Amino acid sequence: MRRKIQGSRILITGASSGIGRALAQKAAAAGARLAVVSRSADKLADLQSSLPMGTEVCPIVADVTRDEDRLRLLRTAADRYDGLDVLVNNAGVASFGHFSTSSEAIVRQIMETNFFAPAELMRSAIPILTQGNQPAIVNVSSMTGRRGMPAWSEYSASKFALCGLTESLRGELARFDIDILLIIPGLTRSGLHDNMLRNEGRMKIEFDKGQRPEVVADTILTSLKSNRTEVVVGWEARWILWFHRWLPRFTEWRIQRQVKKLYAGI
Ligand SMILES: NC(=O)c1ccc[n+]([C@@H]2O[C@H](COP(=O)([O-])OP(=O)(O)OC[C@H]3O[C@@H](n4cnc5c(N)ncnc54)[C@H](OP(=O)(O)O)[C@@H]3O)[C@@H](O)[C@H]2O)c1
Repeated sequence: MRRKIQGSRILITGASSGIGRALAQKAAAAGARLAVVSRSADKLADLQSSLPMGTEVCPIVADVTRDEDRLRLLRTAADRYDGLDVLVNNAGVASFGHFSTSSEAIVRQIMETNFFAPAELMRSAIPILTQGNQPAIVNVSSMTGRRGMPAWSEYSASKFALCGLTESLRGELARFDIDILLIIPGLTRSGLHDNMLRNEGRMKIEFDKGQRPEVVADTILTSLKSNRTEVVVGWEARWILWFHRWLPRFTEWRIQRQVKKLYAGI
């Protein structure tokens, strides 16, 4: 199957920055009609002004963790374009630091944004997408959603939950002819690092050496076109997941050894 991006009505959450912003720009260049969502009106306006002249775009200021905002953003996008073809659940937040010294508030906020929001957006979008052309949902998870990482505990848990829900829904949504794609990016140069709820991990994460968000955005578009089920983006993520799959005990030993070294004497 080849999905058409030209003319497609695509809603992207978390479009004000990083992967979402790059995806909006690439999709606009490919002729998509966009609804772009984030909490920051100024950043959405900036995105809008960066899009090619003539792009049809509907900026929606909304917090995806709020029930009334989720319903409003879906209604606004569907009213503007008389329906919707693709929902991209991309908005996300992270937290970096050990679970034992974290808080219930952080784990709940991460789950609200990274899991409950996409879950409820999908549920509410099903009746709209069913009427769409070649309808699809894209869920942006993470490498940490396929291999849990120390100091990324709440984040990993939220992304594992999103992977599990995506896999389950793939069968369920088949009866509505809605495809559901899972994107598994590795380290990406974006705003995620600056917006972390907590940044206390000891391991140095070189976000500035991560892949460019445009690389992930390109992969999302090509995956949509060719209807790929699950795609890992980035050599580092592919490498870690390869080790996790084929040498799980060695991988665990390496990780534990590193944590012990980093936290020796603490
Ligand atoms: N960067 C990485 O290394 C990496 C790796 C794997 C997966 N990912 C995933 O990729 C996705 C995009 O992240 P990114 O790396 O591009 O980070 P980013 O630059 O920080 O972008 C996150 C986006 O999510 C939006 N957002 C956050 N909370 C929101 C809320 N409650 N309601 C509405 N929008 C919200 C932000 O917009 P506002 O703040 O303006 O609302 C922003 O547009 C996330 O799901 C992330 O987990 C990132």
